[in-house]
Amino acid sequence: MPAALSEAELAAGARLMARLDAFAAFSDEEGRLTRLFLSDAHRRAAEAYIGWCAEAGLEARIDAAGNVVARYEGKMLGAPALMLGSHIDTVRDAGRYDGNYGALAALAVVEALAAAGERFDHAVEIVAFGDEEGVRWRTTLTGSRALAGNYPREALHQKDAAGVVMGDALKAFGGDPDRAASIRAGGAVAFVEAHIEQGPVLEAEGLPIGVVTAINGATRLEIGVDGLAGHAGATPMNLRRDALAAAADMALAIEKRARAEADLVATVGRMEVWPNAANVIPGHVQFSIDVRAPDDKRRATAVADIRAGLEAIAAQRGVRATVGTTHEADAYVCDPRIVAGFSHAVESLGVSPLLLPSGAGHDTMAIGRLCPAGMLFVRCKGGVSHNPLESITTEDCAFGLAALSRFVRNFEI
Ligand code: GLV
Ligand code: MN
Ligand code: MN
Repeated sequence: MPAALSEAELAAGARLMARLDAFAAFSDEEGRLTRLFLSDAHRRAAEAYIGWCAEAGLEARIDAAGNVVARYEGKMLGAPALMLGSHIDTVRDAGRYDGNYGALAALAVVEALAAAGERFDHAVEIVAFGDEEGVRWRTTLTGSRALAGNYPREALHQKDAAGVVMGDALKAFGGDPDRAASIRAGGAVAFVEAHIEQGPVLEAEGLPIGVVTAINGATRLEIGVDGLAGHAGATPMNLRRDALAAAADMALAIEKRARAEADLVATVGRMEVWPNAANVIPGHVQFSIDVRAPDDKRRATAVADIRAGLEAIAAQRGVRATVGTTHEADAYVCDPRIVAGFSHAVESLGVSPLLLPSGAGHDTMAIGRLCPAGMLFVRCKGGVSHNPLESITTEDCAFGLAALSRFVRNFEI
């Protein structure tokens, strides 16, 4: 059967694309999309989402952890719920589809159900998670971890680069730091997330959508390197304890370790230098390491090797390295029933159901601790993501929405 969408499904995809475009205007920075957790733009985006829910007759609210949640009741009030959603925070200078696609697709599904008055034995809950990217504070997935009953309370005390304490920002946003750790979503029977692929596989296979089998685990480390600041002109090379030269050496060693193993990736994505002046030998450097792998044991071994490598470089260069873990998420194998349900929905659209793993992290891996969970991927141009060049076609947008809608309509508890 050739891939085919109905007129109505194509039109729904076009409406979703238009809404994604409109939603991208909620940014903390002029001229580019940056919407960090609990920022003013995040608040405005949450309010728009709540407003769209209200237009569909759904009462939405900001929960204690800063997620936007809404519930579409089933035939019986208070029935167990199928949960749908993704995140609405972004990286800096982001694309407009990462996370936002799944959050707005979830809304589009319940809008259509509400418009048709279609109700099931289960309720449908939609969630726009707030904290998936982990850019503003050194923590991530706090929204989905809250709903999974696994909230990292210690995150509430962290300060962002401007010194804003996360708990205070959460309160100002409309959340409740005192309750964030006790909002486990007890009534959820399953969770599904539609998301752009953020990789090149679907494009290479010539497929608009695919079904996710598993999500790689991740570890994030925060490294401090203490050397000795000094005069850039007066200190001979052999008498320096240059923290930046040591950190650069460490970054190359991390790259080398990751390259030695298939499927393992490691990234030094942020580096801050003190005092950051042309004529001063750097005295202190702070940087992040992000390590991912499909296998938790292999990830743990790589992290141990990286830590040992940092120690060795620090000793050799006469600097001190302190290493802290800021995030740890085990790999998640998607629920087989959900994989089968998505495969069926994809096939019903005349698309061959390709099964593929996710290299990127997702709220699904946190919610997977609560209930069976799974994901649907939508092709994105060149596999490019975390970049304003992120791009999807209206037709692929429609395929993703149609598959999600069909999954929801066929879902049985
Ligand atoms: C989220 O985008 C992540 O995988 O870091
Ligand atoms: Mn994402
Ligand atoms: Mn992302």
